Amino acid sequence: MDHFLYKDGALHAEDVAIADIAAAVGTPFYCYSTATLLRHFTLFDEALAGMDHLVCYAMKAASNQAILKTLAQAGAGMDVVSGGEYARAIAAGVPGDKIVFSGVGKTHEEIRAALTGGIRQFNVESEPEMEVINEVALSLGTVAPITVRVNPDVDAKTHAKIATGKSENKFGIPIARAREVYARAAALPGLRVVGIDVHIGSQLTDLEPFRLAYRKVAALTEELRADGHDIIRLDLGGGLGIPYTRSNEAPPLPVEYGAMIKEELGHLGCEIEIEPGRLIAGNAGIMVSKVIYVKSGEGRDFLILDGAMNDLLRPAMYDAHHDIVSVVEPAPGVEQQPYDIVGPVCETGDTFAKERMMAPLSAGDLVAFRSAGAYGAVMASEYNTRPLIPEVLVHGDQFAVIRQRPTFDEMLKRDTIPDWL
Ligand code: LLP
Repeated sequence: MDHFLYKDGALHAEDVAIADIAAAVGTPFYCYSTATLLRHFTLFDEALAGMDHLVCYAMKAASNQAILKTLAQAGAGMDVVSGGEYARAIAAGVPGDKIVFSGVGKTHEEIRAALTGGIRQFNVESEPEMEVINEVALSLGTVAPITVRVNPDVDAKTHAKIATGKSENKFGIPIARAREVYARAAALPGLRVVGIDVHIGSQLTDLEPFRLAYRKVAALTEELRADGHDIIRLDLGGGLGIPYTRSNEAPPLPVEYGAMIKEELGHLGCEIEIEPGRLIAGNAGIMVSKVIYVKSGEGRDFLILDGAMNDLLRPAMYDAHHDIVSVVEPAPGVEQQPYDIVGPVCETGDTFAKERMMAPLSAGDLVAFRSAGAYGAVMASEYNTRPLIPEVLVHGDQFAVIRQRPTFDEMLKRDTIPDWL
């Protein structure tokens, strides 16, 4: 459920008409709903009620500080994967002891910044990284809390580009080697083992792969405890999928996911962390764009939008489907027609949808890409020297621009011309 609904024939975000935002900020833009963000966070929080837990929002999904602040004020922790994300979390007021640091290639500088600013734990991805975290901690005269990310060799049954839990993927340490690696960790004085981490992929639409992975983590917890390690925390990663179409897809709900976690891991008495990104932000955001031209091609009509692949990369990168709706509610019973919906970037890949059935649209009309809140704005680029598009946050009947569209002048000034030119 989200808060992007038609009211009086016009698409609204909560109580604000999308057309009013478009008139104020221009198109294209991203628009997020506070109520939807909070609702999704609360669903996870409630799903884990009864277990000691922390929902660490995977901010790679949408990392605007206003979004982070909204979630942090509701009690969320953060999962960060870079020094930049760590800095954003701190700037948004998230305390260090609610920030977990994931990511396969943490640098010395990133580790130092997190140890200095405060960190809940590092999720260690490899043995060389473990050695470096130890060295940096010792150089700062501190001890780094760590989990080791284990790779359970489970097929997440999702898009190959976002599956992370098979042995051929670059993530984590093979679970079969975990005991050896934990023994090494225990011998390093700059590290304190606090738990185990696992994340098998994103946009999972079935609980079974999670269950298989978590069962392996439960068995490993017992083994590691028998070896003398203090396993007090299990970080179970993110990955629960969302419905991208309103019709047939129905991924499991957070409450079902939470119940499965209790079933598989509840007896261990560990604190549970999860790192959902997409489910919190995905359906809490839309991208709004304007039709520039309707072009009649051979056997098809193209809707040429002012938004493009650089603004919303998912269709070009993963062949992802996003529902696209008219901002003016189509009259009931109006006959739909197929459109190829494209952006203005000079690549054929700049295609959002083919033969998408829509009520007839004309130049100047607004459309909204649904489910664009996660991995939308954060994956945008300035390809074709197109400015990064603004982000807007709605809260009830108010809205605020939470990231401005840069001017061409601002963009051009970022280049510097060497003396010899
Ligand atoms: N934790 C870790 C360690 C991750 O790598 C990820 C996502 C998450 C949590 C959050 O997963 P989520 O709950 O959002 O599924 N750009 C792609 C998705 C990449 C996901 C990368 N890792 C897309 O647009 O589909």
